[in-house]
Amino acid sequence: MMRSDRLSLRQRLLLWLLPPIMLLTGIWIWATYAIIIYFAGMAYDHALEDTVETLAAQVSVEHGDFRIDLPAAANRMVKFDKVDHIYYSITDERGTLHVGNRMVPTSHGSALLSNKTMFYDSSVDERAVRVAERTLGGTAETGYLTIRVAETLEKRNILADEVLRYMIGPQFLFLSGIVILMWTGVGHGIAPLMWVRDAITHKTYDDLSPLDDKSLPAEVHEQVHAINDLMARLNVMLDSQRRFIADAAHQLRTPVTTLRTQVEVALRTRDPGEMQVILGKLDSASKRLARLTNQLLDLSRAEAGHSMTVAMEPLDIADTTRETVAWFVPEALNKEIDITIDFADAIPPLLGNRHMLEQMLANLVDNAIRYNQKGGYVHVAGKMDDSHFILTIEDDGPGIPDEQRQQAIERFYRTSSSRSGGSGLGLAIAREIVLLHAGRLTLNAVHASSGLEVVIEFPLGS
Ligand SMILES: Nc1ncnc2c1ncn2[C@@H]1O[C@H](COP(=O)(O)OP(=O)(O)OP(=O)(O)O)[C@@H](O)[C@H]1O
Ligand SMILES: [Mg+2]
Repeated sequence: MMRSDRLSLRQRLLLWLLPPIMLLTGIWIWATYAIIIYFAGMAYDHALEDTVETLAAQVSVEHGDFRIDLPAAANRMVKFDKVDHIYYSITDERGTLHVGNRMVPTSHGSALLSNKTMFYDSSVDERAVRVAERTLGGTAETGYLTIRVAETLEKRNILADEVLRYMIGPQFLFLSGIVILMWTGVGHGIAPLMWVRDAITHKTYDDLSPLDDKSLPAEVHEQVHAINDLMARLNVMLDSQRRFIADAAHQLRTPVTTLRTQVEVALRTRDPGEMQVILGKLDSASKRLARLTNQLLDLSRAEAGHSMTVAMEPLDIADTTRETVAWFVPEALNKEIDITIDFADAIPPLLGNRHMLEQMLANLVDNAIRYNQKGGYVHVAGKMDDSHFILTIEDDGPGIPDEQRQQAIERFYRTSSSRSGGSGLGLAIAREIVLLHAGRLTLNAVHASSGLEVVIEFPLGS
């Protein structure tokens, strides 16, 4: 289910992309603003320089002395400005004010006699000003004059504000555009994910058909491919489970039916002798039922072991084998079967589940005795090779024909010659338990057409 405290992909992308985009936009605004202000400042400086030129044009040298002729019009022109205050001064090298409405502060690093206008920032009456300064003359007789024109910064500040205002508006629109584009773009981008979500939610629990992945983009295609893969595997598993249940029910039906018929017959009979016969039949049917139920349980436990953790402990496998084989001694004696155990090497502890390994052995030894003829032998042996513990259970019974040996391991499979009342689960249980212990189970013929050897290899350290 969707959890509301989770961020959507859209929100995540916006969170990742928006701060850097905002930062970059900020840097861009700042850089553009600085460039505009720099060039506008240069234009204003030129205007200030023009005023300095105008004043310089009024200065002439007569009889070795400076003459400054500032007509009223020129004076007005110098001072005239709608917005800013303009101050000017013409001083000599001793600092005496010759003409001007105000002493304009001097620069510190002076461009003395360079005949160029220099600009600097200063203040007059505590108001910030921009100053243009030019030095004239420079003969021994006349000395020199310095012309300074200062202008308050109103115009420049107004311009800076306007520039900023006109820039911020469009930038804000630009940013909103990007957010909208990202929002809708990401929406289009993740639409296939939504499609996959809907396709999965609308599936019924038993519909494991693959999702159509043809028109999906590469990344989602991979995910859907993986989901389809999983569903295909689930399908196989469900199929096999369904078959298992059907087979199990089918197998259970026979002993249950026998039980019922025998009970019905028993209810009608008055003859104690006949009753004994029926009780004998009831006994074997109920034994068969009990065995089948246990076999089914063992198999389902072993199969479930692949997806659940099974408790494993280090075991003395020789000991476990001896104990399990001992259960079958009465049966072996009954059939005059010679049963032997041979552990040649000292076997290091094997990591395994004791109960399961006992079930595995029990099923194999049971087969070896059950399908053997009277007077036969069963030989159980354990040995080591480099990296495996190898257990063999050999008998000299009829064996299983080559072509049926593989199938005999499948559950509910019984060879055509089998006459015993088994249900075909013993080998399947043994194989599942071996697999659970990362081992391998193989069936071999002992002689050309008789005898069966079951070989189990367990990797050491498993
Ligand atoms: N040692 C053996 N010698 C000859 N045939 C065997 C031997 N072990 C198994 N088989 C054959 O393989 C078949 C499958 O064996 P498996 O142990 O799986 O089932 P089962 O013995 O018939 O029934 P269950 O063990 O569930 O009671 C048996 O029916 C039998 O025909
Ligand atoms: Mg069996």
